[in-house]
Amino acid sequence: GKGNYRHFMEKELHEHPAVIGDTLRQYVDPATRAVARPALPFDPATLPRLWLSGCGSAFIVCQTARYWFENIARLPCDADVASELRYRDPPLTKGGAAMFVSQSGETADNLAAMKLLRTGGQALVSVVNVPESTMSRESDATLMTVAGPEISVASTKAFTAQLSVMACLALNFARARGAIDAAEEARLTTALLEVPEHAAKMLDASAEIEALAEDIKGARDVLYLGRGSMFPIALEGALKLKELSYIHAEGYAAGEMKHGPIALIDEKVPVISLCPSGPLFEKTASNLQEAAARGGRIIAFTDEDGAPALRRFASRVVVLPKVDPFVAPILHAIPVQMLAYHVAVLKGTDVDQPRNLAKAVTVE
Ligand code: BG6
Repeated sequence: GKGNYRHFMEKELHEHPAVIGDTLRQYVDPATRAVARPALPFDPATLPRLWLSGCGSAFIVCQTARYWFENIARLPCDADVASELRYRDPPLTKGGAAMFVSQSGETADNLAAMKLLRTGGQALVSVVNVPESTMSRESDATLMTVAGPEISVASTKAFTAQLSVMACLALNFARARGAIDAAEEARLTTALLEVPEHAAKMLDASAEIEALAEDIKGARDVLYLGRGSMFPIALEGALKLKELSYIHAEGYAAGEMKHGPIALIDEKVPVISLCPSGPLFEKTASNLQEAAARGGRIIAFTDEDGAPALRRFASRVVVLPKVDPFVAPILHAIPVQMLAYHVAVLKGTDVDQPRNLAKAVTVE
């Protein structure tokens, strides 16, 4: 049941710290505090290319993982939604592999794309939350998320559990490929192991996010911006707001705004920016300043190091715990999901069962 929560979604948001912890424990060896190599149908040291695919929020996990696999593991990879990967019909490298991400493990678009890649000789791995699911049976190997049953149609805890699995793989592949030194691996692993406690702190921002939701609920359009591995989280913010509150929202790469969406900017369009401190902060902040100069209402999700610079032009600055940039996408997904939840509650929509959506989509 829902326990003391108003909705399954609210309950499941509060399960982020526990499911991330449970999922990390499956992949990290407690003795060495390093990610153990899971059983895989390929050798990450010599893998020429990895395809990443899924649908909806699971595809956003793939886009985030691509930044990690490329930057940390130096592994060439590509991410596309399953329903397009299938029709792109890309040239496939012999010895390549594909990883499909799905909560249900039953999504028909994934199964169709898996069939195509299987025919093209790719090894298949699925990252699923349901053991014995169809995707799991159709794969050479299955990596489990340990999110427990997710009832709310919009994904919450399964999303952060999926990201946690992908972050573990990035570290393991980085070591296998000689792309990381021991000190950096230890630093990033520690950051990853601290995610559950930071996730609990993210939930403490609930009252502030609820107040922000009051500001957003009347908007017709909302822009979400992020750069680097925070860009997919901007996409997640926009997707969740659309799904739950039926407000039109777009996620954009922060640097791409000046090439188009800046034309939309006026005081009526909130611009929600995901800009924790880190190497990409300065450039993102200057993109936001451009939007503010054109009358844009900037709402910034950042941390104590980023807040002073943003306060000079943002109309609202939400100060979240400071975390390592590697794990920031996992953690900043939480307030972004919370915002969509609170806007939906204020608008009185059916939070757990948004109109026209289904939990598992078994048609193409
Ligand atoms: C959608 C759900 O239809 O399917 C989303 O509403 C979900 O929440 C997507 O992200 C993919 O589902 P799955 O089970 O493959 O992760």
